[in-house]
Amino acid sequence: MFDTTKKIGILGGGQLGKMLCLAAANWDFKIGVLDASPDFPAGPYCTEFTAGNFTHYDDVLAFGQDKDVLTIEIEHVNTDALHTLEQQGKTVHPAPCILEIIKDKGRQKEFYRQHGIPTAPFEIFQDEKALKEAIQKGDWSLPLVQKARTAGYDGRGVAILRSVEDLDSKILPGACLAETRVDVQAELAVMVARNANDEVAIFPPVEMDFHPEANLVELLICPARVSPLIAAEAEALAERVIRAFDLCGLLAVELFLTTGGELLVNEVAPRPHNSGHHTIDSAFTSQYQQHLRAICNLPLGSTVQVTPAVMVNLLGEPGFNGPVQYLGVEECLAIPGVYVHLYGKARTSPFRKMGHVTVTAPTIEAAIAKANVVRATLKVVSANTF
Ligand SMILES: Nc1ncnc2c1ncn2[C@@H]1O[C@H](COP(=O)(O)OP(=O)(O)OP(=O)(O)O)[C@@H](O)[C@H]1O
Ligand SMILES: [Mg+2]
Repeated sequence: MFDTTKKIGILGGGQLGKMLCLAAANWDFKIGVLDASPDFPAGPYCTEFTAGNFTHYDDVLAFGQDKDVLTIEIEHVNTDALHTLEQQGKTVHPAPCILEIIKDKGRQKEFYRQHGIPTAPFEIFQDEKALKEAIQKGDWSLPLVQKARTAGYDGRGVAILRSVEDLDSKILPGACLAETRVDVQAELAVMVARNANDEVAIFPPVEMDFHPEANLVELLICPARVSPLIAAEAEALAERVIRAFDLCGLLAVELFLTTGGELLVNEVAPRPHNSGHHTIDSAFTSQYQQHLRAICNLPLGSTVQVTPAVMVNLLGEPGFNGPVQYLGVEECLAIPGVYVHLYGKARTSPFRKMGHVTVTAPTIEAAIAKANVVRATLKVVSANTF
């Protein structure tokens, strides 16, 4: 039922939390945010800020007491406290048992295997020594992709091991998994939402282009430049995944389209996602509004995209570290179809996500051309250099 007196709590006050708050404001929803500092992006835009640590049991439990619905903007939260809140009768989406599977890449991959969901072949290792032994024994050969089981994000928990030297210099310490390196034709993401009434709504697939050095998405293209058949297959796979998890809320399903034309699930994120930002400016329903609809069991919004769109992440320029300055914003605002989103982070550092720009145009080619102008013009720097 639509009820503006219900209190929603978000664990995490970064940019995803901020954009959730902005979407919630349209419906006068009351949003509490838990994070370390009200200076974080969501701080000024929530109705109530609670300073605390979302990885601590007591902080999460106390935060949840006066909330009706709890959700997240980051997976690495205290799920024990979320279990307790669920037992107390709170609505928690995504459910803590699903979060526990997703935040451990080993369990996540096992989940795909158990449910017959296509994913790259893998094996779980206790630590990097066990992986090295498996390579020495010939059970695994290079190149391979090593992933930390927990706490990896923005490519930081991923190492591509190509040579014997990499086994000393690049290997990640601790519990991990080895994955076959996929010959990737394209990386796609599908945002899919489901509510407690079992309604499912799927946004068109997006295509992710990566920054080679930072391992961050540099350009995101929607709709993805794939055949209608591949797009339909990607959407069907995303629906299968959200139903297999029995998840309420938004799920970002990251996919590999292999050079052989096969779709494999890489990983999922049970929340709004970088690859859905463009929906704010290009679709009937933004991913943020869709997440709120899904977790509050409201009718899901239309996922139809109104216009082709390209999204550019605004990353901190290498060589700058300190209080943020933006260069070239006015020039970009003068271009029609350019929508600038600045997250409001006080300090920049190399490759930090500081904002994004959505560029719309009648065709993808025209949007890419404008996006390249934006990339060359809008820079996130600081007076402090190094
Ligand atoms: N098996 C693989 N074969 C080829 N490339 C891979 C493989 N696994 C990961 N990659 C590359 O590394 C990137 C990061 O991997 P992954 O998405 O698993 O990590 P992540 O740290 O969770 O990333 P993010 O937070 O940016 O989504 C992928 O987007 C892809 O470009
Ligand atoms: Mg990823």
